[in-house]
Amino acid sequence: MEDQVEEVKQKTDIVGLVGQYVALKKLGRHQKGLCPFHSEKTPSFMVNEEMRLYKCFGCGAGGDVFKFLMEIEGIDFRDALERLAEKAGVKLVSRKFEVPNDKQKLLEVMDLAARYFHWLLTEGKSGEEARKYLEDRKINSNLIDTFNLGYAMPGWDYLMNYLVNKKGYSEELLEKAGLISKRTGGGYYDKFRGRIMFPLQDASGKVVGFTGRILPSLAKESEPKYLNSPETEIYHKGRMLFGFYQARQAIREKKRAILVEGQMDLISSYGAGVSETVAVGGTALTEDQIEMLARLAKTIYLSLDADEAGIAAIKRAVDIAEKRGLEIKVVNIEGGKDPDEIARKFPDKWRELVENAIDVYEFVMLKSLEKNDISTVSGIKKVTEDVVPFLAKIENSVVREVWTKKLAEKLGVEPSVVKQEIERMKFGRGPVEKYQLRNVPDKNEQIDNKMEKLAKRLVGGLLICPGAKSKIRTWVKDTKLPGALGKALAMVLDTDENDATRLVEKAPAELKGLIEDAYMAEGEGETEEKDVLSLAVQLLREVIREKRKILIDELKTVKTGGSDSKEEELSQELNDLDREENKIMVLLG
Ligand code: GTP
Ligand code: MN
Repeated sequence: MEDQVEEVKQKTDIVGLVGQYVALKKLGRHQKGLCPFHSEKTPSFMVNEEMRLYKCFGCGAGGDVFKFLMEIEGIDFRDALERLAEKAGVKLVSRKFEVPNDKQKLLEVMDLAARYFHWLLTEGKSGEEARKYLEDRKINSNLIDTFNLGYAMPGWDYLMNYLVNKKGYSEELLEKAGLISKRTGGGYYDKFRGRIMFPLQDASGKVVGFTGRILPSLAKESEPKYLNSPETEIYHKGRMLFGFYQARQAIREKKRAILVEGQMDLISSYGAGVSETVAVGGTALTEDQIEMLARLAKTIYLSLDADEAGIAAIKRAVDIAEKRGLEIKVVNIEGGKDPDEIARKFPDKWRELVENAIDVYEFVMLKSLEKNDISTVSGIKKVTEDVVPFLAKIENSVVREVWTKKLAEKLGVEPSVVKQEIERMKFGRGPVEKYQLRNVPDKNEQIDNKMEKLAKRLVGGLLICPGAKSKIRTWVKDTKLPGALGKALAMVLDTDENDATRLVEKAPAELKGLIEDAYMAEGEGETEEKDVLSLAVQLLREVIREKRKILIDELKTVKTGGSDSKEEELSQELNDLDREENKIMVLLG
């Protein structure tokens, strides 16, 4: 099968394929056009025939022929493969002769279950009460269809009967899918009963699990209001965002995502026209979930409960956001209402609240100032304790300075004092790893610092002019650039493979995207060996500048803290750096 996928890819003319959707124009080694995945006026969408890749430098979309067709047509890999295979005249091994593996079977049975529940809700006689309930909650048939909502009857074995007796699936499979549970006395029973069913869909729209809300008339103390599928081979809750499938187009276009707590919040928000909304669904927000959004959005708007879990989620979001240059805003709702209530009753008001979302640092400050009395010393201390940990996370020192000033102003103290607290927070906790270069993302995402830009360009340049490798190999490797970029650079420098396409094939999976990107980005003009060498030198100088900055920062804090031996050590390192820079200047001539 893998061979066939490769064959189809090789036989597909990517320029011809993309050309059906986008007007392309030859430019240097690429074809260029207006990106079909976001709206733009000047073209930043590139297609490279040789590598069979496309890449948009505006919105980040990119990939191979399969990905292009999947994204533009909204189909899954299998469909994309079948379509392209047919065009390319490649005969795929028939699906009929394949034994579907576990995963496929699970997906099949989840899909059937979702259809069954949906039918019961929209057409079934027993769905009457559920229909009424949704109507009361202003969830119209459009929304029901968009989110593929359903209804599970209150009995113990309706779904099981349908899937086992009518459709011939095994009880073991249904249990594995989390749809039925074992009885203590033997046999099984339906897990979801008397509930409004919300299918959990993956990014390609496949149903991988369910959340079910109990009908109010059937609510019991012993039953949870919302019941979730257990984790299965196809459902990992930390990687699920409810509504992502429906929202992702809007997220991509608007470059922002609104993150709410519950399924109902999301559906009402969507109904109010904020279609870039997704829900975490009552669990703790994970890094993976933020990453899913970070791929499409520049800003994440949090509208989570202001409880402890909500604050923890905000902290986690800020951590990740700072690392990857993402902006976090908070939709500030007064009076403990949830987004569902506002969006349902006052859609305009909800939209306005979203538009008026405030910067997360502002929010943290406001919240703390609301609950503490800063006319007292202990109040000031509390606010400092609440806010400083957030400000200490800000990577950009200018931005950090701005918020430092704001906090100082609010507290009526000198900015330098707040700054000192922040420094203490940043450096006070254990030793700071030496030479730890900031802002180096671990993945191939949003790079905006000069050093990383240079490193990436160098990777691209070396792919185009492999001849330059031997000249810079040792000195560039000595810089030990961290993160994925460092790895990519080391790999490109080490390999004897001089053909760009084959080099990408050989690259480890986690570096592929980055190397491809670097290649695509470097391909517009002509790149000659002297350009590559100049890039390498610029990079080295930038690395040294970064290191020096960090050392000087550290030296400053050590000076105020007062450890002589440490100060000595740092000064020594600074001297070493100066020497290193001199060496490079000499090499430059
Ligand atoms: P409605 O009562 O239908 O308006 O839901 P809500 O969104 O207002 O519920 P709530 O604020 O109580 O909870 C927020 C989210 O937490 C829900 O959307 C669910 O995803 C989740 N949740 C709520 N109750 C439970 C529960 O009993 N068990 C589990 N696992 N999740 C729950
Ligand atoms: Mn509610």
